[in-house]
Amino acid sequence: MGRSLVVDRIGSLITNDPTLGRGPLGIIEDASLVIVDGLVAAVGPSGAVADERIDADGACVLPGFVDSHTHLVFAGDRSEEFTTRMAGQPYDGGGIRVTTEATRRTDTAELDRLLGLRLAEAHRAGTTTIEIKSGYGLDVDHEVRSLEVAGVHTAETTFLGAHLVPAEYQGRTDDYVDLVCGAMLDAAAPHARWIDAFCEEGAFDVDQSRAVLEAGRAAGLGLRLHGNQLGEGPGVALAVECGCASVDHCTHLSDADVDALAGSDTVATFLPACDFSTRQPYPDARRVIDAGATVAIASNCNPGSSYTTSIQFCIALAVRDMHMTIDEAVQAVTVGGAAALRRSDVGRLTPGSAGHAVVLDAPSHHHLAYRPGVPLIRQTLGPLGTSPLGTSPLGTSPLGTGPRAGSPT
Ligand code: NIG
Repeated sequence: MGRSLVVDRIGSLITNDPTLGRGPLGIIEDASLVIVDGLVAAVGPSGAVADERIDADGACVLPGFVDSHTHLVFAGDRSEEFTTRMAGQPYDGGGIRVTTEATRRTDTAELDRLLGLRLAEAHRAGTTTIEIKSGYGLDVDHEVRSLEVAGVHTAETTFLGAHLVPAEYQGRTDDYVDLVCGAMLDAAAPHARWIDAFCEEGAFDVDQSRAVLEAGRAAGLGLRLHGNQLGEGPGVALAVECGCASVDHCTHLSDADVDALAGSDTVATFLPACDFSTRQPYPDARRVIDAGATVAIASNCNPGSSYTTSIQFCIALAVRDMHMTIDEAVQAVTVGGAAALRRSDVGRLTPGSAGHAVVLDAPSHHHLAYRPGVPLIRQTLGPLGTSPLGTSPLGTSPLGTGPRAGSPT
């Protein structure tokens, strides 16, 4: 047996397995969590013994957050755009080109340094598994470079060449889609697990988005889609039709969209911090959950529409404004995020799963919504391996390690 760690005297341990404890979150009170070689070896009553010990002193411990939607490889600043938006200018995604220019101009070492800082911030805020998209390169070399930079830190890399038509292809969207589905995909696929497209008016229409998804599938990538962000549209229906693992945003949903999600394996991933930062209405998650769909919540951290790594902030918004219970919001950022990434090894603290955990500075998970804006993450226990992020006593594998290409969709 390898090195072992016990987190002991846990006031309330969220396992996300109802067979192990109380309620849907499977909560065990006065608990201990034993991690051996980065995996959960046991959960049970306080008092377990191991090589190393953390005294939780009555705090709540829960699975590390699974942030299934970020755009973390970028350079530049768009605070000015945010300021004008708060003064009434609507968000339309056009700023993606501003970030693309800044990202192309930045050398690789600097891009990596910036990404490392953002990942360290996310880890301090409790995220232990993270998806990272390209999408600010928008030509073959820069898209590949973004994926390479991301791939140093996570296995959950997503090729998003179809984020926006770059300036040099203005007025020639179909030519750009051909490039994305051809040479760009050929070069990007070895560095990506997923493919994604921004299916929205002003970005890519339903046929263009379908072409990108189908080309990605043929290249062995798993499928995900940005849809229904700025208005009702074909994104959700397309994602369900193509069997995407997740359709992300889902801010504007018709009844037919909700029915389609409920009858599918496609996870509806909500991005409430994006709705906050773009002054969009918040989606009614209650309607989607009650219909029977699987939901996730992610940060969508990017410089334009949602510049936050705080999953805690997302939980507070989801509970306050999306009509989710606190239990549902906590599930959505743990097992929900894992489902959106088709992962069963993270997002739960059950024997055999990854020993990625968050120790709160609070006795219960309710405080995540009850104390908005207060940093409640006392410690993140996560795998940091090759990543230069933070510290963990038992970190043996990279942040978000998991399968690469060819995921089930
Ligand atoms: O998910 N909607 C498309 N992409 C990002 C925004 C990117 C940006 O504005 O830079 C999103 O919100």
